Amino acid sequence: LSLNKVVAGANGLVARLIGQDIVPVSLLKADPDRVKADQGQLEQVIVNLVINARDAMPQGGRLTIETANACLDENDVRGYPGLEPGCYVLLAVSDTGVGMDEATQAHLFEPFFTTKPVGEGTGLGLAVTLGIVKQSGGYIYVHSELGQGTTFTIYLPQIETAGLVAPRLGDDSRG
Ligand SMILES: Nc1ncnc2c1ncn2[C@@H]1O[C@H](COP(=O)(O)OP(=O)(O)O)[C@@H](O)[C@H]1O
Ligand SMILES: [Mg+2]
Repeated sequence: LSLNKVVAGANGLVARLIGQDIVPVSLLKADPDRVKADQGQLEQVIVNLVINARDAMPQGGRLTIETANACLDENDVRGYPGLEPGCYVLLAVSDTGVGMDEATQAHLFEPFFTTKPVGEGTGLGLAVTLGIVKQSGGYIYVHSELGQGTTFTIYLPQIETAGLVAPRLGDDSRG
């Protein structure tokens, strides 16, 4: 599926989630390559990241959702544990919120890890997000600075689309 279509389809939901004081910004690559993933699961990922971004900006701010294509070589993946060289479609969700210290970043993806008051956080948003990303063959990384904001970047493997739409001439065994 097309990541842009999923992001565009979640626009209304995102607007309702963030309210009036947060400005949404979409930076969608004109024609990102396709990924193999479940639409509902990707919407869940977007919602989880957007809710966290909203919670990090109680005074308002800017929420940016970006898509991009990237082919990475050995040099590019250095510093990204697990990431293999190859071609990916990127989905990045950034906020201009409170950011996170190192201790928080170390536990982020653990189930039930939350810094939110009882009743406000379940600590499951990022654990579920990581599960979906892994199931889709992808990777997720966080970059955050206290007081500056946070960016979550998801790398999903690009899939070959050539030949998916119609069989090539000569492939038909009936001749
Ligand atoms: N965009 C963000 N900005 C600052 N902190 C974040 C952000 N996203 C996640 N966190 C931190 O990671 C923790 C875990 O997030 P999550 O798994 O979604 O659980 P929950 O949102 O229920 O606390 C949050 O409690 C918060 O401390
Ligand atoms: Mg959450």
